[in-house]
Amino acid sequence: MPPRKIIIDTDPGQDDAVAILLALASPDEIEVLGITAVAGNVPLELTAKNARIVCELAGRTDVPVYAGCDRPLNRALITAEHVHGKTGLDGPDLPDPQMPLSDGHAVDFIIETLRAEEPGTVTLCPLGPLTNIATAFRKAPDIVDRVQGIVLMGGAYFEVGNITPTAEFNIHVDPEAADIVFKSGVQLVVMPLDVTHKALVTKPRNDAFRAIGSNVGIAVAEMTDFFERFDKEKYGSTGAPLHDPCVTAYLIRPELFTGRFVNVEIEIQSELTLGMTVADWWGVTDRSPNALFVGEVDADGFFALLTERLARL
Ligand code: RIB
Ligand code: CA
Repeated sequence: MPPRKIIIDTDPGQDDAVAILLALASPDEIEVLGITAVAGNVPLELTAKNARIVCELAGRTDVPVYAGCDRPLNRALITAEHVHGKTGLDGPDLPDPQMPLSDGHAVDFIIETLRAEEPGTVTLCPLGPLTNIATAFRKAPDIVDRVQGIVLMGGAYFEVGNITPTAEFNIHVDPEAADIVFKSGVQLVVMPLDVTHKALVTKPRNDAFRAIGSNVGIAVAEMTDFFERFDKEKYGSTGAPLHDPCVTAYLIRPELFTGRFVNVEIEIQSELTLGMTVADWWGVTDRSPNALFVGEVDADGFFALLTERLARL
């Protein structure tokens, strides 16, 4: 079976970095056509820089990185330096990137790639706010039917919010963009906090990253050592939740995850619950299901896969 062609849309962020590394370490299963940066955890200039830092850490400067939207569709940008640090990649001391940004806007790269590749062969993997994806769909409606599917990290239902009482960060930053994507008709696989909060980097798991002994293994251990503070303080978690790597791991071993195909819609009116992913988990409405909303993960299997793959880089 040929590798799945994907575009990673991202706001690195330590967990984005691990997701990108996992994808780049898995060429038999995943062909990364390009990486598109979006403003989110930190401003666009930093997410575009961090994406290149990660490509260089993986030895993959062949992967084009494009800068995308620097703010949400209709709102001021909310960032998360309190979680990811001032640079967005606090923890390891990684060199500034030498590889340049690719010319052109990320949105145009998404559009041109979907038009150039065979319909139904490119999967979009958003790991941050959905601004780039929504902008591409608005600018070029013809590409929507050409998308194989979207596997994204975002949302929360039973786990409730991590940035407000009801909303998860990626969706809350740009709820209008999320609304466009969730109503697009594209097949969605959603990795919400409900599952990502079960993928925790406990100390033995972090020790296994460090024991890889490579620059990649040590950098990942140092990233998660930094990144775990927010969740340990807020939730009393036993380690950093690897939100975004759930997306990449799903592409490689979907059987590690279980969920339910339900209707999920985005709150865009109420300031109180803005950005909430309203999942009709019990089917109490006549709204058509539009997303596989994932709730469970085989965490030991997930970390075994991740550690084995990171050791390949
Ligand atoms: O809420 C978690 C999500 O927000 C992750 O994608 C993390 O990188 C941040 O973007
Ligand atoms: Ca992210």
